[in-house]
Amino acid sequence: MQKKIFATYMIVVLISLLVLGILMLDKVDDYLTEGIESRLMSNAKILQRVVQKQMAEGANKEEIQRFIMDTGSDLNSRITVIDIEGNVIADSDIRSLEIENHKSRPEVKNALKGEVGMSIRYSTSLKKNMMYVAVPIQRNNAITGVVRLSLPLVEIKQLSNSVLRIVFWTTLIGLIIAFIFSSLFSKKITKPLQDMAMAAGEIARGNYNMKIRTRENGEIKALANSFNIMTDSLQQTVRELTDRKRKIEVVLSSMTDNLIAVDHNCNVIMLNPSAEGFFKINEQDALNRHLLEIVRNQDLYEYINEVLINGQVVSKEFKIFKPEERVFRVNIAPILEENNCGAVAVIRDMTEFKKLEKARTEFVANISHELKTPLTSISGFIETLLDGAYKRPEDCLHFLEIIKQESDRMTRLINDLIYFSNLENPKTPMAKSKVDIIKMINKALNALQTAIDEKRHEVIVKKPDKAYVWASEDAVIQLLINLLDNAIKYTQPDGKIEVIVKEQSEYIAVSVADSGVGMSREEISRIFERFYRVDKSRSRDIKGTGLGLAVVKHLLKAQGGDISVKSELGKGSTFTFRLPKA
Ligand SMILES: Nc1ncnc2c1ncn2[C@@H]1O[C@H](COP(=O)(O)OP(=O)(O)O)[C@@H](O)[C@H]1O
Ligand SMILES: [Mg+2]
Repeated sequence: MQKKIFATYMIVVLISLLVLGILMLDKVDDYLTEGIESRLMSNAKILQRVVQKQMAEGANKEEIQRFIMDTGSDLNSRITVIDIEGNVIADSDIRSLEIENHKSRPEVKNALKGEVGMSIRYSTSLKKNMMYVAVPIQRNNAITGVVRLSLPLVEIKQLSNSVLRIVFWTTLIGLIIAFIFSSLFSKKITKPLQDMAMAAGEIARGNYNMKIRTRENGEIKALANSFNIMTDSLQQTVRELTDRKRKIEVVLSSMTDNLIAVDHNCNVIMLNPSAEGFFKINEQDALNRHLLEIVRNQDLYEYINEVLINGQVVSKEFKIFKPEERVFRVNIAPILEENNCGAVAVIRDMTEFKKLEKARTEFVANISHELKTPLTSISGFIETLLDGAYKRPEDCLHFLEIIKQESDRMTRLINDLIYFSNLENPKTPMAKSKVDIIKMINKALNALQTAIDEKRHEVIVKKPDKAYVWASEDAVIQLLINLLDNAIKYTQPDGKIEVIVKEQSEYIAVSVADSGVGMSREEISRIFERFYRVDKSRSRDIKGTGLGLAVVKHLLKAQGGDISVKSELGKGSTFTFRLPKA
């Protein structure tokens, strides 16, 4: 650009200077020739009269020759007088006196016709370009000869040479000035454009802060302004888009649901981080691959395909069986593009929810059952009493005792329920402190002493000198009572109960071992469920609600502890719980 402007500028200057020079040269040439011509002409006319007069007065050849010689040197011109035959009568240049006849010379010819003759020729005798002016000499209206004046044109040549030199130098100086100006000028024009090109390049590279500052006015200023406005709005748009993209990314990545999107060809176009884990593949690896390569579940694939074909929202459940059985709900919505339809699927793991739902319904069924059983027998016995049994004192007493037992059972159940519900929704979190676990064991055993004595159990406590846990005292007492109560209940009379306290790195482990009825493996896996009681017929005689171990588990979880069970049918059970050491 800059070079083009520069070259154009130089060419224009060069051409105009050359044209000017040539025209000037031409004019100068014309002007000088004309000047010489008129000088020769007027001199010739004066000479014409003088020579005419001399001739009329009868001057001889020598007299004329002398006059011509004098005048010639005065006028600084060559003067020749020629007779009508063309012979030279007199010549200021004495060497040319005897030379050939002049009749055929064009200027002489014209003069002999009575006109003023003029010619520019190369003189072979003088070896120069010459101008000749010839006028006729008349006597009594008849032409008797010719006076010719000539001047070499060397002067013109010299003058035009110096003009040529001037033209040459002006052209050169002009070109140098033009060079300087055009390089400055072209730089000035192209600088803002170069700046703009650079800024545009920067923007293309993502630098939207780029601004063009120009001191120019007019079009360049307007262009720079529009450019800056454009970058501003571009920056704004990019910022908005990035912001929106970031928000979407945050939403997608913080989603616990698995999200997968496919285009109309069923090729993966998006996978959120949860889905990466679910399908065990990186988003980058999954992109543009067919859904079947990523999704191993036939049901899920079919549901997504259904949406791609029908373009309607689908909400379905499917199961996977490995490594364990899990239930998922998938909501698939179509992504409507111009003519095609993609799909986005959100997959939610429903396994825990299903389990909770099942537990809840079972819980309600269990409570109803547990409350109904004593109520049925209470109302049965009351009816029997009302039917007349109240009249028989022994029956009356017996039935009332049963009614008392059943209502006690109900009270126990309701108390356990209240306790459990408080435990699940605590109003205030249980305050933890340094708890002397040995003291707590003794307290629990004291509370259960009557039951132990009734069954004549041997109770052994093995403990270190000191053992402290970091927990809530109430919670520790409650879980010890629940475990010891079970050990007493589910061990035949004269059995043995052992309580062993041990330190285990960060924890204190407490085992409650009995020589009781024990449990099978399947039973063990369920005893911590609410209301679960092993073989209801077996434990019918033993009072209980099936909430004890559920409470234990809950309490331990809240205290940062855990529990494990070892048991063998008919041989006994060992429950070992751990609590953080204080
Ligand atoms: N030490 C134990 N020996 C044998 N079975 C036990 C023992 N502890 C608990 N179980 C079994 O686990 C079930 C659940 O116990 P728990 O939740 O305390 O309820 P509950 O004592 O009210 O029946 C009991 O019904 C019993 O069958
Ligand atoms: Mg119990």
